Amino acid sequence: MAAPIKRSGLRIIIEILNDPDRKPLFRIITELLYLAFFYRKLPFHYFSRYLFKKDRKNITDYYPDKFLDKLKYSFNDLSTCEVLENKLYFSYYFGRLNISTPETLMFNSRTTFVTGNKGVKISDGSDFISLLNLVFSNNPKIDSIFVKKMSGSYGGDKVYKIYRDHIQNDLPGLIDLYTEVIKSEYIFQKTIIQHKQMDIINPSCVNTIRIDTFMDKEGKLDIMSAFLRTSIAGLHVDNITSGGARIPIDMETGKLTKTGFSSLSTYGVKVLDAHPVTNIKFDGFLIPCFDEVKKIVLDAAGYIPSLRLIGWDVGIGENGPVIIEGNSYYSIPGNDLASGGYRSHAVFRKVIREYDELKKLKRFQRFKTFFSLRKK
Ligand SMILES: Nc1ncnc2c1ncn2[C@@H]1O[C@H](COP(=O)(O)OP(=O)(O)O)[C@@H](O)[C@H]1O
Ligand SMILES: [Mg+2]
Repeated sequence: MAAPIKRSGLRIIIEILNDPDRKPLFRIITELLYLAFFYRKLPFHYFSRYLFKKDRKNITDYYPDKFLDKLKYSFNDLSTCEVLENKLYFSYYFGRLNISTPETLMFNSRTTFVTGNKGVKISDGSDFISLLNLVFSNNPKIDSIFVKKMSGSYGGDKVYKIYRDHIQNDLPGLIDLYTEVIKSEYIFQKTIIQHKQMDIINPSCVNTIRIDTFMDKEGKLDIMSAFLRTSIAGLHVDNITSGGARIPIDMETGKLTKTGFSSLSTYGVKVLDAHPVTNIKFDGFLIPCFDEVKKIVLDAAGYIPSLRLIGWDVGIGENGPVIIEGNSYYSIPGNDLASGGYRSHAVFRKVIREYDELKKLKRFQRFKTFFSLRKK
């Protein structure tokens, strides 16, 4: 199945106006004006957090996207970010620390491919297919491979899944992949075989848990919130921008909560109480190994203290959690929505306090520099 077609802004507005679950128009306008005044920003998040729905009462608990997008750059050391942003470095770093990550089978930089401990330069598509053949014959138990751009792409873009039988049945597809892969750097990973329980929700992809951690100035680590991501478009990736949905998880019980959200641009104003493809109801669905998920992200976050605010993507494999990636500049609005508003979240308040202090300090430093320059 292909990624869903995105709705235009106009179509979204029409859908909101026709939504039987929306608040009365006068109330929507009043709340929008109130939030614009409250945050001194255009409150686009009123829509992306579904605050126009009748049952959304705590409208001031959610932060505007622009505010969160700026804040996220204040807690992570830029020079360390590459460890998370580059999927190969990520796998080496955490692999050494016994954190479960997807197994790397091969990687390339343009036409040079490294598999096992050997690098080979290849000259054409048929060499590429021979390499894939070799990878599959060296791993007789695997049926498919994930091929992903090593860095600089997000949202499930440039993430491909190839099957063993493509070597017999889809040579043109593999040649297209070859043309794409040799443009930059890609990593080839074993496909994670997901826990049976997670297949029940949706078998088209590994449905990951997005869970964020924060390390405060004293080094105390906390988990903030978690939601399950699942493709509702029958795809092999679960990213929201590729037509996925997010379902908040109760942090104490590890159970899915009642209502899932996709995005206004892919799924319109509808919220979900069941998976639209498998019809599995979300409310009360128990995520297997959720305590282990919490443990693995705390362990991983503790191993990379120069990055203090991280959004982790954790799949549940047959033998427990596997961290697919950590995002040093993750989309905090997703967790703001899933948690019911980060403004009333005890740990996120610590993030805000520190951010306010940082801003004050920066202002003071600018002030100092200004006066020292004037004295000279
Ligand atoms: N090795 C893998 N096995 C199975 N599914 C995977 C694997 N790697 C990625 N995926 C699926 O693809 C999604 C996107 O992969 P990811 O590496 O996080 O790329 P991006 O940086 O674009 O988000 C994951 O959330 C998961 O659903
Ligand atoms: Mg991801």
